[in-house]
Amino acid sequence: MKTLIVYFSYTGNNELLANTMVNDLDSEVLQITEPKKRGMFKIMLDMLFNRFPKINDLNVSWQEYGHTLLIAPIWNYEIAHPMKTFIKENKEHLKNYSFVTLCSGREIQKEKIATQLQKLTSYEPKDIVEFKILQLPNYVEQRNSMYKVTQVDIEFFKQQDAYRKLVKVSTHKKEAV
Ligand SMILES: Cc1cc2nc3c(=O)[nH]c(=O)nc-3n(C[C@H](O)[C@H](O)[C@H](O)COP(=O)(O)O)c2cc1C
Repeated sequence: MKTLIVYFSYTGNNELLANTMVNDLDSEVLQITEPKKRGMFKIMLDMLFNRFPKINDLNVSWQEYGHTLLIAPIWNYEIAHPMKTFIKENKEHLKNYSFVTLCSGREIQKEKIATQLQKLTSYEPKDIVEFKILQLPNYVEQRNSMYKVTQVDIEFFKQQDAYRKLVKVSTHKKEAV
């Protein structure tokens, strides 16, 4: 059975990752969108009050998929809130899933992500993977912490064991990467 990739992205990094992964896995991709345009102020409020913002319906045909790959940024140690809403609303379908983030890569973050997933879902993820901007050889710190990844950066992540493992976890492998 195919893998379903569901992603949320604010500045485009996780979108680039999701669109790359869809080519490497036997998968289909869906984007989480919101009825109202998001700005930094809304991100701050979501972080402050741990909100579950409204998202647009995705109407997923869950029976077609054997594995779900959730891809989203991390905001102040939290899974980006629109993705949290999606997980909460679809937890009964998330039996075989992995969580992936392209994030800055702060210390001790994976444990926090695992705790959040544990609270939101009934099942443990197959895998939690952080692709860390701070590890990029070309990384140059930007004052507003909004580093924009390029396809070259994505190629760097694709060489990592974690990426290969994700390709394996997904039930049908299209081709070796
Ligand atoms: C308000 C804010 C808070 C962030 N907090 C974290 C964080 O706690 N840990 C981390 O690794 N990255 C953090 N980041 C970095 C983002 O996760 C990173 O830039 C990500 O690649 C953005 O993904 P996107 O382009 O798909 O929206 C933060 C970014 C923003 C804007």
